[in-house]
Amino acid sequence: MPHKTLYRDHDGAVILDQTQLPFRVADRRLRRLEDASDAIRGMQVRGAPLIGATAACGVALAMQVDSSDSALERALETLGATRPTAVNLHWALARMRTALSRVPADMRAEAAWTEFETICREDIETNAAIGRHGLDLIHQAAGKHGDRPVRVMTHCNAGWLATLGHGTALAPIYAAHRAGVPVEVWVSETRPRNQGLLTAWELREEGIAHRLIADNAAGLLIARGEVDLVITGADRVAANGDTANKVGTYLKALAAADNGVPFYIAAPRSTIDANCPRGSDIPIEQRDGNEVRQLHGMRHGVPDSIAIAPPEVAVANPAFDVTPARLITAIVTEAGIFPPDALP
Ligand code: MRU
Repeated sequence: MPHKTLYRDHDGAVILDQTQLPFRVADRRLRRLEDASDAIRGMQVRGAPLIGATAACGVALAMQVDSSDSALERALETLGATRPTAVNLHWALARMRTALSRVPADMRAEAAWTEFETICREDIETNAAIGRHGLDLIHQAAGKHGDRPVRVMTHCNAGWLATLGHGTALAPIYAAHRAGVPVEVWVSETRPRNQGLLTAWELREEGIAHRLIADNAAGLLIARGEVDLVITGADRVAANGDTANKVGTYLKALAAADNGVPFYIAAPRSTIDANCPRGSDIPIEQRDGNEVRQLHGMRHGVPDSIAIAPPEVAVANPAFDVTPARLITAIVTEAGIFPPDALP
């Protein structure tokens, strides 16, 4: 990873501000609880595992100011309300609650930083294990397709920008590249927030062949046999294997199933929500309509938006969709590769 997405720095933390990418690499300092919650809500940090780690960081920042029981509860509540779909947020906050509730108040700030750093270290290891397991799938595809690169389609950004390590869906691609297995990646732009541009930027930094496509091109490419496998990340996997991921994932899974192309989810076990029986129980974030009415980019070196629809146009902007387990070939976790109906 050429840049760190999040790290502790003295009595604060530093994030890579993803709202500036792919045009500008800019760090931002988090000093207070509100900085962390604003960064999650405003998507300066994004991607389920990174959201979880940033929430843990937010608790540590809060404990530096006031480490009382009530301040801890307030921090957990504030951070828990930032984004609804990625379960890693709640997973990380539950870990912080467990770690801090048994520690005297005057030792909580340092205990919070320790737990935050453990979460970050574990995420790096988890990403590496997902990469190793997912590499087997790419090796299998390479065995079938012989002398040409393996063509992988992904959606959104589940690379190192979404995590602390090498990512989830992109970890097997990075592992393949490092192992000398030629890969080419179809990157869908992922309207309306265009996280595909982040994926294209990452892959370019790593020297991996890729092509950016409009979201609507995915079905044609899959039907034409130009995709060997699809791998996406996940924001929440229900106990029955139904999986919430960035909106548009479901359409790719449908096209893949219709054409006999394997469709994989790559996610850490912290993304599996045993308390959520099925996909219809997963809360789907509804975001601001201006994300659809406007296009965001860079003008004369400054981030800017242009309107593509008048402000009075009514908009629906669900940020995630749910792919039913029956369309998922397997789920790649740090513990191995599992059918969606037999999760670890
Ligand atoms: O809204 P975002 O950018 O936080 O969306 C989450 C994602 O990055 C994706 O859905 C991703 O595939 C899963 S998180 C590794």
